[in-house]
Amino acid sequence: MKLSEEKKKSVKLEGRINIPGDKSISHRSVMFGSMATGTTKITNFLAGEDCLSTISCFRELGVSIKQEGSSVEIQGNGLSKLNEPTRVLDVGNSGTTIRLMLGILAGLPFHVSLQGDDSIAKRPMKRVTGPLSQMGAKIDGRQNGTYCPLSIRGGNLEAMDYQSPVASAQVKSAILLAGLQANGTTSVTEPSKSRDHTERMLQAFGVYVIEEGNKVSITGGQTLKATTIEVPGDISSAAFFLVAGAITPNSRIVLKNVGINQTRTGIIDILVKMGALISIQNERVQSFERVADLIIETSDLKGTIISGDVIPRAIDEIPIIALAATQATGTTIIKDAQELKVKETNRIDTVVNELRKLGANIEPTDDGMIIHGKTSLHGGEVDSHGDHRIGMMLAIANLITDSEVSLKRKEAINVSYPTFFEDLQSLCK
Ligand code: S3P
Repeated sequence: MKLSEEKKKSVKLEGRINIPGDKSISHRSVMFGSMATGTTKITNFLAGEDCLSTISCFRELGVSIKQEGSSVEIQGNGLSKLNEPTRVLDVGNSGTTIRLMLGILAGLPFHVSLQGDDSIAKRPMKRVTGPLSQMGAKIDGRQNGTYCPLSIRGGNLEAMDYQSPVASAQVKSAILLAGLQANGTTSVTEPSKSRDHTERMLQAFGVYVIEEGNKVSITGGQTLKATTIEVPGDISSAAFFLVAGAITPNSRIVLKNVGINQTRTGIIDILVKMGALISIQNERVQSFERVADLIIETSDLKGTIISGDVIPRAIDEIPIIALAATQATGTTIIKDAQELKVKETNRIDTVVNELRKLGANIEPTDDGMIIHGKTSLHGGEVDSHGDHRIGMMLAIANLITDSEVSLKRKEAINVSYPTFFEDLQSLCK
């Protein structure tokens, strides 16, 4: 989005937007609806490229799925009616699609090949293929099942107690979905709690799940019954506007209908700790999640330390938090965030390199980054590197730079927020 030099000096953000559906919940709605028996109806589905990849994969497995914009209807016939696909499944850019599908396919007695884009080909799959192979699935792929393309032939799974070395909802979910088809009770224990949408949603589909602290258990042989899901707005998408509102002068914006699940609200806790003026209104429960409207005003931010248990609760928001930190007085230290290296890009490198091009004082560390603020950012040519969240962070930076930020590969944003630029434009006054 282009802002003229004149406009740039006076731009402020005002108004309200409806935040599009949560990506994690949209993926799971399609997956669980396809595994269930009966008609699952989904509203406020995120029609972004990642979730559309999930729909096309399940269509290849023989599921009838009608999608019109944010409304989806799935005719589920149960897990046993999923078919061996005749084509290679293409997950596009979506880590959630491939990792959770591997968990589902681990229990099914047929062959499937999976591939994705160049980013997916670099992302570690052993964290999922390792435990699923231990449960009995036959998986192969590049470097012994470490990288895509992968092939899997499932069936005859034995339950396992898995101590996950990483706090990852994708790992946890894949093992629980395999556990649902295994002989006995499977449990996953994480070093700290990752997002819990799988646990909540499986219960909404009628599955009995036991949660004890960071341990989740599920007994095999249970079936899913279709349900109705209204997907809450994605707090990871709202995050870009929370920071935009905080760092753009004279701004006040209302973000409607945002999911505020405790395992996802690290961004709110971090911004409040940095001094952001955020208020949470109209809190309510929708389907199986808490939602609210979030109001953000221009704020005087100060640096902080971000580490430990809040990291998995804010892992996708670190790029935009880094931008906020460039506008905060003092130093912000982000640590314990090694997982950033295995996202759609190595987000330690891409955040540091791209923000430096705009004049940020930021240095990478082994497990995060250190940002010295407050710096006046300037314009320049930057690149999303095909990573949607890097693209959106750089587009928000354009609101506060003294001259234009020109963003290469901005189409990556369609992965999670196809209407991002329209929403941003509607708030710019
Ligand atoms: C997701 C889990 C997270 C997150 C990703 C979505 C999910 O990944 O980064 O965007 O829907 O389960 P990890 O499980 O790898 O941390």
